Amino acid sequence: MQVLTTIDAVRTARARFDQIGLVPTMGYLHEGHLSLVRRAREECGAVAVSIFVNPTQFSPREDFSRYPRDLERDLRLLEAEGVDLVFTPAPGEIYPEGFGTYVVLPAADEVLEGAARPSHFRGVATVVCKLLNIVQPTRAYFGQKDAQQTVVVRQMVRDLNIPTTIVVAPTVREPDGLAMSSRNTYLTSEQRAVAPVIYRALRAAAQSYQAGERDATCLRQQIADLLASEPLVKPEYISLADPMTLLELDTIGARGALISLAARLGSVRLIDNLLLD
Ligand code: PAJ
Repeated sequence: MQVLTTIDAVRTARARFDQIGLVPTMGYLHEGHLSLVRRAREECGAVAVSIFVNPTQFSPREDFSRYPRDLERDLRLLEAEGVDLVFTPAPGEIYPEGFGTYVVLPAADEVLEGAARPSHFRGVATVVCKLLNIVQPTRAYFGQKDAQQTVVVRQMVRDLNIPTTIVVAPTVREPDGLAMSSRNTYLTSEQRAVAPVIYRALRAAAQSYQAGERDATCLRQQIADLLASEPLVKPEYISLADPMTLLELDTIGARGALISLAARLGSVRLIDNLLLD
């Protein structure tokens, strides 16, 4: 496994492979990330993983400096998965002095995570665009866990004619249903114990949908009521939106819906979602 910190070295190493899959990450890897690596391993001749805590997708108020990092452990895990190439650039390699071009999807900033986190998706789209240009992967792998991120990346790739196939893989969960996330490590044991209510609430709404409920207001209310049973969990938004445009729905139609929510447990902000189709 080659561990590379410069763009030049990645370009040289990448030239040895015909097909390569890329899994972009911010490190502190868990089974969710590794599921993407395994999927890439199955589908591509070679696998590259990037580990870069991207400063431009964090707002000044957010957790960039305290975002968890453990490069040694990450590299051990990736080595065991048979990864070919790991790209771990310093911030100055990605954003050198004089950097000034961003990829912006204005519609994404209006809703859900974009509305809650101004300029977040500008940072995500910009860094993913750069990583796709640097590695030039055949396929790139993203988790359904970050549903709006997958919509943003797919649209960017389509709009900018980037010749990479985007693959979205299912959310990996803890046995009690909590979606795996690097941020789960911030939860106190009390918060961790109640966090699974998030997935229970999403599941309950999905069951109502399967039983025939199509009224989005009813489904949102059902989720809100279930979350209210755990006062430590404070919902920031509860959304039932069109899976492509992410605009809120009144009634769920033929395209189904993305149910998604963000909730705070103390200072920890968790997101989760389910697709109804
Ligand atoms: P990060 O949060 O490290 O996640 C890297 C990838 O792993 C993303 O595609 C994310 O959706 C996926 N992932 C996270 N938790 C998952 C889970 N429980 N199940 C399945 N997949 C999961 O997302 C980012 O980094 C960044 O925004 C990035 C795309 C790397 C750009 O900086």
